[in-house]
Amino acid sequence: MGKNDIIEKTIAYVKTELAGAEGGHDWWHIYRVWKNAQLIMQYEKADRLVVELAALLHDIADAKFHNGNEEIGPQKASEFMRTNDIDNNTIEHVVNIIRHISFKNDNQRHIFSSKELDIVQDADRLDAIGAIGIARAFNYGGFKNRTIYDPDVKPKLLMSKEEYKKSEAPTINHFYEKLLLLKEKMNTQTGRKLAAKRHQFLENFLQQFFDEWNGEK
Ligand code: ADP
Ligand code: NI
Repeated sequence: MGKNDIIEKTIAYVKTELAGAEGGHDWWHIYRVWKNAQLIMQYEKADRLVVELAALLHDIADAKFHNGNEEIGPQKASEFMRTNDIDNNTIEHVVNIIRHISFKNDNQRHIFSSKELDIVQDADRLDAIGAIGIARAFNYGGFKNRTIYDPDVKPKLLMSKEEYKKSEAPTINHFYEKLLLLKEKMNTQTGRKLAAKRHQFLENFLQQFFDEWNGEK
């Protein structure tokens, strides 16, 4: 199977698997991450197939929608690739990226790293900030029935992975606990440049949000 056929087949598989997913983690999130990754790749030397497959398969079974099970995603991706005769090195690399891409696994970065992970991680992080990041955060908050903001619940920085996973805090807190921190975590130069613009949009949004909250004109 040629590379384009593999990509087309992967897209079809991902669309089917993510039918009915929460709006922030659906096919369109995958599509945007895939596009972001292709953009970043224009300026980086990387294995295209690994980057594209990892971008397309990175959220195939997100642990937070599977009772915290972090194995299903890598397993399903691996199975899909094996069925489609992708070579073993590519499979292993893509699975490693899926395992290590998440913000909450950031403290494990020493275990695996690669240029291709850098690119896909930046592409995923870009989709968590800017206008789309805001839309995704509130969609997820609504999906989880969280409050928008509660002045009595302060953001918690430096949460452990377990605390982060079970947090039920208001959605605005997520900006301080994760979204505003992403700009400094970008791996590639292109990623950093795009993140700076999207970060500024988050800052402007929060400024306006609190102005309105406090009843100012
Ligand atoms: P990671 O797996 O990298 O830790 P997540 O998959 O948890 O990241 O987050 C992806 C996106 O889901 C976030 O950028 C945000 O849009 C949304 N999200 C996750 N957790 C929350 C939360 N507690 N409140 C609001 N949005 C959230
Ligand atoms: Ni993602």
